[in-house]
Amino acid sequence: MIFHRRFSTYPNLTGILEIYLNSIIKLIMSVMNHDLDDLVVMKVVEEYLRQNPSSRALYDRARGLLPGRSTRNVLYYPPFPVYMAAGKGSRIFDVDGNERIDFNFNNTTLILGHNHPRVLEAVREQLGRGTVLGAPSEVELKLAEELLGRLKGADMIRFTPSGTEANMQAVMLARCYTGKMKIAKFEGAYHGSWDTVDISVSPPLGLAGPDSEPRSVPQHDGIPKGVLENTLILPYNDAEASEALIKGHRDDLAAVIVEPVQRDIPPKPGFLQSIRELTEQLGILLIFDEVISFRLSPGGAQRLYGVVPDITTLGKIIGGGFPIGGYASTEDVMEPLIISQSEFPALKPPKLGYSGTFNAHPIAMAAGLAVMRELTPPTYKMLEGLGEAMREGLRRILEEEGIIAHVDGVGSLFNITWTGEKVVDYRTASSGDRVLERIFSLDLMNRGIYLRAHPNLSTATTREEVERALEAVRLSIKELKPIIKERSPHLIIR
Ligand SMILES: Cc1ncc(COP(=O)(O)O)c(C=O)c1O
Repeated sequence: MIFHRRFSTYPNLTGILEIYLNSIIKLIMSVMNHDLDDLVVMKVVEEYLRQNPSSRALYDRARGLLPGRSTRNVLYYPPFPVYMAAGKGSRIFDVDGNERIDFNFNNTTLILGHNHPRVLEAVREQLGRGTVLGAPSEVELKLAEELLGRLKGADMIRFTPSGTEANMQAVMLARCYTGKMKIAKFEGAYHGSWDTVDISVSPPLGLAGPDSEPRSVPQHDGIPKGVLENTLILPYNDAEASEALIKGHRDDLAAVIVEPVQRDIPPKPGFLQSIRELTEQLGILLIFDEVISFRLSPGGAQRLYGVVPDITTLGKIIGGGFPIGGYASTEDVMEPLIISQSEFPALKPPKLGYSGTFNAHPIAMAAGLAVMRELTPPTYKMLEGLGEAMREGLRRILEEEGIIAHVDGVGSLFNITWTGEKVVDYRTASSGDRVLERIFSLDLMNRGIYLRAHPNLSTATTREEVERALEAVRLSIKELKPIIKERSPHLIIR
């Protein structure tokens, strides 16, 4: 298979011209060899190159300016990513003028779609007062009230500029509150790019250790040994094994951090409850990373599954398209952050200091507040219905086209994993054919569907657009069938 090698070598090539020439040569070779599956891939790549010349030029310009030509790994994909120019509602427009239906929405951020009029109005209104004012603002209190009204177990919230920092702070708070240093996270979970949790995010299975006792595998070089030793890895959706591991480290664990819906994988019935009961018994704080899953109900995944954590971390949708994060908890747990001013004008510094130039940025606060006010119970119901239509449609098409793949997701999240296995955790998700996933995604881009990384739906997405996407998926599967046959024959039932 030529494309195996080609995709892995693209990042190292010296110029886009090379990519183009290389692809033409490979295309000619494929035609000469009558290598059908290579020919199919080349057709997809050729069409991608044809549709996106300006993106290609910008990608070329980024060489020498940005390491890896990117500022965000998740946005890199071979042969080069499309550069976007504008978004409106459910549509996204690239620098070549291609219009696509967006199913990414900045990795689940824009739950109301692009440029929602109420969000724009709130931002304009706030901008009229200045950008950032170097003082507390009323709008941060309004967003705090709105969010805390939705979170059952939280009295207080602190805002950060990102979900990453929300998780960093939540872990620091847990350490400070409990006096213990270790944390436990689940294999395959992403909680931001920082060393304590950049462990076993996507470990090679050969290094990952036994299913019931995953090893702590550093995601990259430069993670100090001490950090590695202080992060315990648990298997998601395996309550029994997780309980045994937590019990084994009970005296050292400050917190267990979990995405209640890990990526798109729902928790098994009782899984979150069992972790909740055990952590409560053992005096370990439970952190729910709801940076993505908060979109699943008016009170996030915790309301959906009826489990109340000690700390909730938030991000993405609560900033209305601007950088944001936050962590919420009870007054008791938040105590280390409290600045006491009992003897005016002296201040007693908090046990856990935390500052940030852009914390509670007023524009993000105003935009986030506008978003949250639009998210009423019927809106979540509508999103759930749209998500169900997408998931059911995908399953139907796969069945009709004689292909096995795993479709999952909850509410407005959905995903296809190209595997015959039922996906319940990182290891089963890893059985998916990732190369096929990339080609499928490129082919859908060619067909006007922007479905990448973390597929999701917004309130701007219509049923008709879901149907259009499903039709594109059907055509794509028909086109890519020779590749599926060649790479993953076990996925073909007819
Ligand atoms: C579950 C989860 N937690 C934390 C983060 C980090 O958030 P941010 O990118 O805002 O730093 C992400 C980002 O994708 C995420 O998906």
